[in-house]
Amino acid sequence: MSRRAKITIVGAGNVGATTALWCAAADLGDIVLVDIPELEGMPKGKALDLLQASPVVGFDSKIVGTTSYEETVGSDVVVITAGFPRKPGMSREDLLTANVKIVTAVAENIRKSSPDAIVIVVSNPLDAMVYRTWEVTGFPPHRVMGQAGILDTARFRTFIAMELGVSVRDVSAMLLGGHGDTMVPLVSCTSVSGIPVTQLISPRRLDEIIERTRNGGAEIVNLLKTGGAYFAPAAATAEMVEAILRDQKRVLPVCAFCNREYGAGGLFIGVPVVLGARGVEKIIEIEMTPKEQAAMARSIAAVRRLVEQMKELCPL
Ligand code: NAI
Ligand code: 2OP
Repeated sequence: MSRRAKITIVGAGNVGATTALWCAAADLGDIVLVDIPELEGMPKGKALDLLQASPVVGFDSKIVGTTSYEETVGSDVVVITAGFPRKPGMSREDLLTANVKIVTAVAENIRKSSPDAIVIVVSNPLDAMVYRTWEVTGFPPHRVMGQAGILDTARFRTFIAMELGVSVRDVSAMLLGGHGDTMVPLVSCTSVSGIPVTQLISPRRLDEIIERTRNGGAEIVNLLKTGGAYFAPAAATAEMVEAILRDQKRVLPVCAFCNREYGAGGLFIGVPVVLGARGVEKIIEIEMTPKEQAAMARSIAAVRRLVEQMKELCPL
């Protein structure tokens, strides 16, 4: 009899708790929610509240909240959502100074408590936080990754479906690059039930939709005023947890380690991968148009600058 999977979510705030909700609703395994000692009751309270939904929703996940790593020992998947979200007017990069210290400390704890885990980073600025987690844990790069591309792609798919008045289920898209203003929506890989999107939406209108996608996070921050998006980010993260724990071999945009791939030269950046029980099992290199290639090169350069800035600000 195989044991139930163990999922640890570090950071029991909006994204963390909602990721726990999606994971529990899909009955992906037992869940440990971790937050800081200063907020002792908070992860415990959220865990208990969520657990009490289980008789209604009908899931078997056991959910506990804690402020120590003892209960996380031997986790199969660890999700990092610890850190500050944006406030209106802030870019994700503005979070670097505060969040790099948090993520460095969290990664150190994960290294000790769950040395065989697959780690999914969500904290921003995403591409740098994944890099730092990899540096600190020393895990092989296929076991360290970030969530951003599924969310950015979901936003793009949502806006296209809204534009055409069709089901989001029929809109397929792929969006690469860093989780920032330089993200690269691949129009050449975007279709509606196989029909190229360029046959359905004019180039000018498509550019406007791409711009709204790039600003998708900021649009929500400006509406909420007190923090960032969390329902869709958490759903995207739970999709990755499911792909790993159920060995689904999903083809998804994931922030993964690329060396020769896409000419990234040893960075974590959003690319299409096969996601399964071993983590990032394969990176898929796709042909891009010259315009898309140039946009990807700009995005790689921006992520490289961010990582260099992080190393200067908070060296290991
Ligand atoms: P939040 O403020 O609701 O929750 C963050 C939680 O982290 C808080 O409960 C805080 O106490 C906790 N925390 C801080 N330091 C910690 C530590 N050392 N150990 C454990 N927990 C710690 O913020 P929210 O909205 O959940 O966002 C979390 C992060 O995720 C932010 O950096 C945000 O920018 C990022 N994010 C990334 C997305 C993506 O697509 N990659 C999408 C949405 C948010
Ligand atoms: C988002 O894209 C803040 O990264 C977060 O909503």
